Amino acid sequence: MSGKFITFEGPEGSGKSTQIRLLAEQLEKQGIDVLCTREPGGTKTGEAIRSILQHDAAGEALAERAELMLFTASRAQLMNQVILPALKSGTWVLCDRFIDSTMAYQGFARGMDISTLDAINEFAVFGRMPDLTVLLDLDIEAGFRRLEERYADGQASHDRFEQEARDFHHRVREGYHKLAAREPQRFRMINSDRSIEDVSSDVWNAVKEALL
Ligand code: TMP
Repeated sequence: MSGKFITFEGPEGSGKSTQIRLLAEQLEKQGIDVLCTREPGGTKTGEAIRSILQHDAAGEALAERAELMLFTASRAQLMNQVILPALKSGTWVLCDRFIDSTMAYQGFARGMDISTLDAINEFAVFGRMPDLTVLLDLDIEAGFRRLEERYADGQASHDRFEQEARDFHHRVREGYHKLAAREPQRFRMINSDRSIEDVSSDVWNAVKEALL
């Protein structure tokens, strides 16, 4: 039997990676095989693309369309090499960001054409959409406060997207709300401005209700 495919989305600092780890532990307790991955990245090709996207590794500003194609190239590689084979073998896949990040960031925040992005996304994922998308919703300022705490030790630097103006991130969040309203069957929006345990319990309930 095919595995289930769950994606996690949300603005910066919304706690996706923590919630993915906790959900993976819950699923494993049920005897389910789980694979966790992320975008951009998850393959050698994808991780190389990630370093170009996050920190202008090539040393020049990226054209918007080049940025879009790099995200979707990473996605096609991840789908082909990792996600589709895992689902086929019955493994559940949890992915940190996916098609909806392209819609929210390149579409709603950068202003690229939504129907063009829908078509490019569908092509990149071989038509295989997520079974469930958990949207961790958080006020933009609260998300950035969390990031500042993470970076307070000076060990990490802000990436290209975190350096965008606050307006950009407000459009990302509003974009996510529009995407969730457009596909209520696939999306579950969860308020992430609460304790890790409360959010995790809502995530688990959403997964049980939708997929178990
Ligand atoms: P993150 O994995 O640390 O959240 O960083 C990924 C960044 O890339 C984040 O700011 C969102 C952005 N992004 C896009 O703009 N479009 C996409 O399609 C994806 C997957 C991510």
